[in-house]
Amino acid sequence: MSEGAHQSERWLSHYEKAWKFRHNNIQKFIENDGLNSYQAIEKLERLEQLNQVVGFPFGMMFQKINFPVPPEQLLPTGAPALKPVQILERSVPASFYQGPVDLIMDWLSMNPVKAIVELGAGFGQNLVKMIYRYGPLQAQIYAGEYTQSGQDLAKFLFEKIPGFSAKVFHFDHKAPDISVVQESQDILIFSCHSIEQVTKIPDDYFERLTQGKERVHGLFFEPFGFQISSPSMTPGDVSKQHEAQAKEREWNLNFAQVLLKAQERGTIKIHCMFKNLMPGDAFNPTSFVYWTKS
Ligand SMILES: C[S@@+](CC[C@H](N)C(=O)[O-])C[C@H]1O[C@@H](n2cnc3c(N)ncnc32)[C@H](O)[C@@H]1O
Repeated sequence: MSEGAHQSERWLSHYEKAWKFRHNNIQKFIENDGLNSYQAIEKLERLEQLNQVVGFPFGMMFQKINFPVPPEQLLPTGAPALKPVQILERSVPASFYQGPVDLIMDWLSMNPVKAIVELGAGFGQNLVKMIYRYGPLQAQIYAGEYTQSGQDLAKFLFEKIPGFSAKVFHFDHKAPDISVVQESQDILIFSCHSIEQVTKIPDDYFERLTQGKERVHGLFFEPFGFQISSPSMTPGDVSKQHEAQAKEREWNLNFAQVLLKAQERGTIKIHCMFKNLMPGDAFNPTSFVYWTKS
């Protein structure tokens, strides 16, 4: 070592043990779960968002983090909706999740399902990323999309994934019909900013979506923040600008109303709902709701 250089032994020995522990886990992901190196790192990263590594006399283990927030601030993955991030000289609240895909993947790791259905899937970009980032999804995949061009590109991309098969189908939020989904129970339906473009969804949207199915879970990431109030937020400029833009573009105005009415009728149960959870474009933040068929 050069004269004057110094490093605490504590950190050198810390990382010696830390990487050995991760080696054991990553090896399991690769050898038992068939993941590639990149997917194994992503899986480890997800695990470490919700668990901490704790050292015991017999070795290190993952232990679930009990986030110190009231239950109403927890997402269905057990993560808090918000976490503090430091920027400039301030600590400000930011979304725990960078985007919908990470939340969906954490939820799936705790809730195995038989079918995963994206509504308004575009060209399948969320689903393709999920597969390449985290490895094979242990369920039949369905991508519902209105446009023919989106469906064509989704099929093209899915066909390029070795050993993978997904069903791409025409779907219209104005007349929701997922009868193409063969599984009748344990179904995850998710949507990301696709209802946003439908000025009004039908009053019986959730009845139509869930008819004939059992144990349906919905993770919907849509910009409906201006349509609801939140106990933790006074309506401000964001909601006003958002509503003005939605009206000007003829984007969705009734998602929250239809959702709440469906719960009143007993069709669905809303487990949690977060207004403006994730940043979107300046006037279109992403809100989130987790619902299940009653
Ligand atoms: C902003 S893109 C989002 C695509 C994808 N969900 C994602 O997160 O990358 C919106 C998608 O919603 C689709 N969409 C618009 N109106 C729709 C409708 N009535 N029914 C189903 N999908 C619709 C569009 O064609 C487009 O693919």
